[in-house]
Amino acid sequence: MVNKRIDEPTGTETVGHEWDGIEELDTPMPRWWLWTLYLTIVWGIVYVILYPAWPMVDKATAGVLGWSSRGELAREMSVADQARASVREQLARTPIERLPEDSKLFAQAVAGGRSAYQVYCSQCHGSGGAGSQTLGYPNLNDDDWLWGGDLKAIHYTITNGIRAPGIKETRTSAMPPFETMFEPAQFEALLSHVMALSGKGSANSAGAQIFRDNCATCHGPSGEGMRLVGGPRLNDAIWLYGGTRDDIRAQIQKPRMGHMPQWGTRLDPVTIKMLSAYVWSLGGGENFVEAAADPAVKVDGEP
Ligand code: HEC
Ligand code: HEC
Repeated sequence: MVNKRIDEPTGTETVGHEWDGIEELDTPMPRWWLWTLYLTIVWGIVYVILYPAWPMVDKATAGVLGWSSRGELAREMSVADQARASVREQLARTPIERLPEDSKLFAQAVAGGRSAYQVYCSQCHGSGGAGSQTLGYPNLNDDDWLWGGDLKAIHYTITNGIRAPGIKETRTSAMPPFETMFEPAQFEALLSHVMALSGKGSANSAGAQIFRDNCATCHGPSGEGMRLVGGPRLNDAIWLYGGTRDDIRAQIQKPRMGHMPQWGTRLDPVTIKMLSAYVWSLGGGENFVEAAADPAVKVDGEP
């Protein structure tokens, strides 16, 4: 039974039902609420007209603005591309040894180099640059450099590779095999001397003499290394192939010669600059300006 009436105390109409003497008021929606509802309806209609909205068979209605999330992404990417292109342009113009002067550009180069490193270098040198002694991949984090650690030298090494076949400019040298050169006793004396260079064995004059005669030309008289021929420093605790007596014995008998690909024929010049900046920034980078200040010092990487 419908029996609408005006409720006296509130002045509001009831819905007209009664349950055991309980009636319900038909309180109208608040105005602000109604207006919000109408606004959202209008907004929805406008949205459907302007933007892609209703799903159809193979795509949604297009909307009169022609907007699409794909187009939006393409636009954002082209903005990012432009920013990157200008950094690359600047990098292309800046000589490698002057890169550190512009700290913002340098930081961008290091960031680019870091990602290129993960793609091209980490499989040999390790993702953090720590290298591998068993495989003879040098650590790039330390300040011990086979071929030179200033930006220009690193750049040269990366561009031309090490013992890269068929590359005229590649870094190259070969340690001769000494397998049958010495009597066993002589060999042991030499081994002790090499160990002693880094403070691990007993110095002895027979070994020292053999070292002077056969090894000093490439490793330096006191084992300080020689970058012109990539002869590793032997008087420190950093080893390319391992520092135990057996490791050293194996290297002297049958030297292993490391190979590194030349990247100059595979990567573009800007990527190589970024890689150089990254490797240089890993911790052991040497100052190019200091090395170049002394005219007697030949800068690695210059013919
Ligand atoms: C196939 C393995 C391999 C890959 C890939 C590789 N390297 Fe090397 N890299 C080597 C080896 C081996 C040596 C040491 C060669 C030697 O014995 O003199 C070396 C040496 C170097 C050196 C010289 C270190 C010094 O002490 O003078 C630099 C710098 C270097 N690599 C950077 C890079 C960069 C940057 C990349 C990536 C673009 C890269 N390498 C990719 C194997 C590799
Ligand atoms: C013609 C130059 C040359 C001569 C001579 C030479 N070496 Fe080497 N030696 C090298 C080079 C270059 C390497 C690094 C090989 C590489 O990068 O793969 C090396 C590497 C080594 C290593 C490994 C170092 C490490 O960090 O693992 C040892 C040890 C060594 N030489 C000892 C000797 C001894 C001892 C003699 C003398 C009997 C000698 N070498 C003579 C060029 C030479």
